[in-house]
Amino acid sequence: LLGGEPLPRKNSHGIELTDPLDAEPLLEAVSNMRGKQFKGGPIIKGVMGETDEPVLNPATGDVVGYTANADKHQIDTAYQAASEAQVAWDRLGGEARGKILDRVADLYEEHMNDLTALVCLEAGRTLNDGISEVREAVDFCRYYGNGARLHFGEPRDLPGPTGESNQLYLTGRGVFVAISPWNFPLAIFTGQVVAALAAGNAVLAKPAEQTPLIAARAVELMHEAGVPKEVLHLITGTGAAVGAPLIEDPRLAGVAFTGSTETARLINKQLADKEGPITPLIAETGGQNVMIVDSTALPEQVVDDVIQSAFLSAGQRCSALRILCVQDVIADNLLNMLKGACEELSLGDPSKLSTDIGPVIDEKALGLLEKHRERMANEAKPLFAFDEGKKPSNGTFFGPQVVEIEDFSLLKREVFGPFLHVVRFKAGELEDTIRRINATGYGLTFGLHSRIEGRAHAVFKRVNVGNCYVNRDMVGAVVGVNPFGGQGLSGTGPKAGGPHYLFRFAEEKTKTINT
Ligand code: SER
Repeated sequence: LLGGEPLPRKNSHGIELTDPLDAEPLLEAVSNMRGKQFKGGPIIKGVMGETDEPVLNPATGDVVGYTANADKHQIDTAYQAASEAQVAWDRLGGEARGKILDRVADLYEEHMNDLTALVCLEAGRTLNDGISEVREAVDFCRYYGNGARLHFGEPRDLPGPTGESNQLYLTGRGVFVAISPWNFPLAIFTGQVVAALAAGNAVLAKPAEQTPLIAARAVELMHEAGVPKEVLHLITGTGAAVGAPLIEDPRLAGVAFTGSTETARLINKQLADKEGPITPLIAETGGQNVMIVDSTALPEQVVDDVIQSAFLSAGQRCSALRILCVQDVIADNLLNMLKGACEELSLGDPSKLSTDIGPVIDEKALGLLEKHRERMANEAKPLFAFDEGKKPSNGTFFGPQVVEIEDFSLLKREVFGPFLHVVRFKAGELEDTIRRINATGYGLTFGLHSRIEGRAHAVFKRVNVGNCYVNRDMVGAVVGVNPFGGQGLSGTGPKAGGPHYLFRFAEEKTKTINT
């Protein structure tokens, strides 16, 4: 069963922003929603609790809505309801669950403009990013819905000796906690939740504290589509406030986490210290992602792909390019072209069609980037710095930066923003460059630009990463096409949007009968 079957593919259609007819309703949605205040508090058994903590629009600092930390009683009620309801949800079977998840996808598509607008207002994502995000969320629903039908229906007959019948059953594990990040506040949130649901689990979903509003809207749509209110609950709050009661509860059957490597380690430790059953953790974490450009690459294409991979989405993708390794003979020319392209980038209001780069998520993220810029001012050679005079005066904006460094051992941690580091290498140093990439310990995305026949596969075999992209950009994995996730410090696998993902959410049980 492991990934053999061709899944029917129907990726979401999205919105074509270059066509004013398509763009107009989206722009209207943004303008109607601006100034409104949304609620994104805990949703327990379908009822939202009180909300009093403001949620800020990172582009303006305005209040977009209100949230609250779920309290211990709410978490306990959610666990109780979810544990009881999970059994019936599991028994419902993959076909029925698949239908409900298809309905979630349809509802998301019906609400594409509003969802995109909310992602933009709450998370500062550009409209283009917002549309891609809703499409990815829709794709997750349909893809995992198909997975539910394929793998969680009839048991699988296994060969055995004469006079014996053997069958393999897949069932849900129980109550899953899904902890998702702010950088894809709808897509990753949805992906984790619907995967756990598809496999027959109940879910307590904990979105990032910065983006509870879009998560609450997603949960409302999931309930409207037919996911029982006792099966799916929203637990909003900070990690400090709700993390411990979620992880320490004895009713927890598994955790799906996307976020920093440090937090994944912490969760892993908390799980390891618990009494009772060993609880699985699916973690998708950070990257120190490198692109290698050799002397045979097409410079115009490289520049496009670098801009896309390093700077769009304000560099706030775990897949984003952090270190560009360029062969010395083409480096000066390529870096000049890259500098020219960087000068064209616009930083500002993410709800404007002309904006390339929106804000970073909050003051803390901005502070970390500013600190890194100060450090690099002493330790690296500046190649491009965004003109601070062109920066919006409100909001948490950080203009793109490019610096050249001697070696990437200078970078100990992921720098999460539009900050690119360049390293030159000489002919004959490719193998050593790959060794240094592997030595970072991270292994998420990797890019290669080369026209040398056979090089792509030779490099692919040596580089320890989850997603290797050749002669293209290295972001924007498509569900069912580029299953996404890394290795080492970048995560545990299995890959999201891939054929093996659902199995990690499932319990396997065999039945052997001597007939
Ligand atoms: N899946 C996203 C990408 O491929 C990152 O989370 O860019």
